[in-house]
Amino acid sequence: MTVLVTGGDGQLGRALAALDRPERRVLAMARGRLDITDPDAVRAAVAAARPAVVINAAAMTDVDAAEGDRDRAFAVNETGAAVVADACRHAGARLVQVSTNYVFDGAAPAPYGPDAAAAPHNVYGASKLAGEAAARAAYPDGAVVLRTSWVFSPTGRNFVRSIAAAAATRDRLDVVDDQSGRPTAAADLAVACLAVADAPAAGGIVHVGGDPPVTWYDFAVAIVDRLADRLDRRPAVVPVATAQVPRPARRPANGVLDCRSYVAATGRALPDWRPALDRVLAALSQETGGPERR
Ligand SMILES: NC(=O)c1ccc[n+]([C@@H]2O[C@H](COP(=O)([O-])OP(=O)(O)OC[C@H]3O[C@@H](n4cnc5c(N)ncnc54)[C@H](OP(=O)(O)O)[C@@H]3O)[C@@H](O)[C@H]2O)c1
Repeated sequence: MTVLVTGGDGQLGRALAALDRPERRVLAMARGRLDITDPDAVRAAVAAARPAVVINAAAMTDVDAAEGDRDRAFAVNETGAAVVADACRHAGARLVQVSTNYVFDGAAPAPYGPDAAAAPHNVYGASKLAGEAAARAAYPDGAVVLRTSWVFSPTGRNFVRSIAAAAATRDRLDVVDDQSGRPTAAADLAVACLAVADAPAAGGIVHVGGDPPVTWYDFAVAIVDRLADRLDRRPAVVPVATAQVPRPARRPANGVLDCRSYVAATGRALPDWRPALDRVLAALSQETGGPERR
């Protein structure tokens, strides 16, 4: 069988491509080969590949840039999702539409389950929520929405790489301690996408993310602890409030997803992000001769 992946050059796209096997081919198409806002191209690609499953990993993910570029965010994250879903319905391929905890406002005191009321705080979250609805409307029987959070990998723009780069040059890192969530390795998310695609009971919306939930501050400490062995000094990680570090897009305070839906649908445990972090830092170190020199 074939799994077609859009956004093949992104964090998730690359992690899915790494799962290519003779018995399950993964055809990951980067934006240069397949633009999901082009309906003819998407239909043609799906028709040619005849995939059993399509994973829509393409997205405009720059949360702050989306505040100033609403049109692009919605073109990719909403219209693109609808285009992919329509092509999947046409071809009878199951669709995993990847989405985000940023569809929630983060004001709830407990983790967010799939049926919790969505109320995005920012343009990115609103565009992803619109994409969920568009995909499900275009393909009610074949689209499953998989929400996740805080994705990290050895490539692309992510918190682990940012902290590693900052730790190499700075003595003090200010990191917010009033936002929490589930760090999720792209490699683990890729496995989760395939598990959800395989799970007949997975319908509607499923949540997955790494265990245990932490604050950004906790996550930064975990990264710096691991880097400290390789650095000749240990930068201080200082907890700060979100209000002290204003950014264009507002973020949810409680970003923790309730992921029991994933466990129930797939029979799998949630991935522990800590060994995944070890692997990502090792990969960074191998690529660059040490994260401190990036
Ligand atoms: N990153 C996170 O922390 C996070 C958290 C929660 C959910 N998610 C979701 O997880 C999924 C994967 O995210 P990721 O971290 O892998 O994102 P990523 O690294 O930014 O990858 C997204 C890819 O989509 C591509 N893309 C953008 N517009 C496209 C278009 N019109 N047609 C085809 N491809 C296009 C991008 O290409 P260019 O770079 O050339 O634009 C990029 O390679 C997304 O649905 C995202 O919303 C991510």
